[in-house]
Amino acid sequence: MITFENVSKFYDNQTALRKISFSVERGEMAFITGPSGSGKTTMLKLIYMAEKADEGRINVNDMELSQLRESDVPVLRKNIGIVFQDFRLLDNINVFENVAIALRIRGVDEREVKSKVFDALKLVSLRHKTDSYPTALSGGEQQRVAIARAIVSEPVIILADEPTGNVDPDTSAGIIRTFKEINARGTTILLATHNRELFKNSGKRVLKLDFGNFAGEEIG
Ligand SMILES: Nc1ncnc2c1ncn2[C@@H]1O[C@H](COP(=O)(O)OP(=O)(O)OP(=O)(O)O)[C@@H](O)[C@H]1O
Ligand SMILES: [Mg+2]
Repeated sequence: MITFENVSKFYDNQTALRKISFSVERGEMAFITGPSGSGKTTMLKLIYMAEKADEGRINVNDMELSQLRESDVPVLRKNIGIVFQDFRLLDNINVFENVAIALRIRGVDEREVKSKVFDALKLVSLRHKTDSYPTALSGGEQQRVAIARAIVSEPVIILADEPTGNVDPDTSAGIIRTFKEINARGTTILLATHNRELFKNSGKRVLKLDFGNFAGEEIG
């Protein structure tokens, strides 16, 4: 579903990723880990084409990214739900509308929007915050809204960047359970984190990065 072949990414004269090769199978849930600055976010950005690789090949959902035209990028992203490290919620609309965005873009009818948004908010235990604005939420609550927004349109791939960075250990365990449930329904999930607790005993594959280098993999 996601394949990297000798992928490198340079920022100015700095190497963010060096000759990275790996693949994530359709329906798999895998983790990327490594210390701060090791290239986790960069790797995810290459997958949804927020950045372009300088070397190598990337294939996502049968699309060869180096051959993708600018106009095809929305087609790629339509299949990907993204939980950004910095959330990126819109502060001028409430929680319901933040989660509903992807459905509205697709022209989903209002009754279905309601039921899907409420289901997604229930999954992250935020049904009671439907009418709140993001600025009135705690960091952990904002993070959970970002997760609901990423899962609501049932994308084939979910990329989650440090999705439990702002929550307590119990909430964090609940979020990982939620991702596992979504994965069990067939969604491919790639989750970046520096927190070993998240993948310990998960039974899932863990890809390790170290200063932009691939540093092997293990089963969590
Ligand atoms: N837009 C950019 N311009 C220049 N350098 C960048 C840019 N984005 C990332 N980098 C550099 O690339 C390297 C990898 O950054 P990246 O954000 O991928 O790391 P990360 O593993 O996600 O770290 P963290 O755990 O802190 O989120 C870092 O050295 C960073 O400084
Ligand atoms: Mg990061």
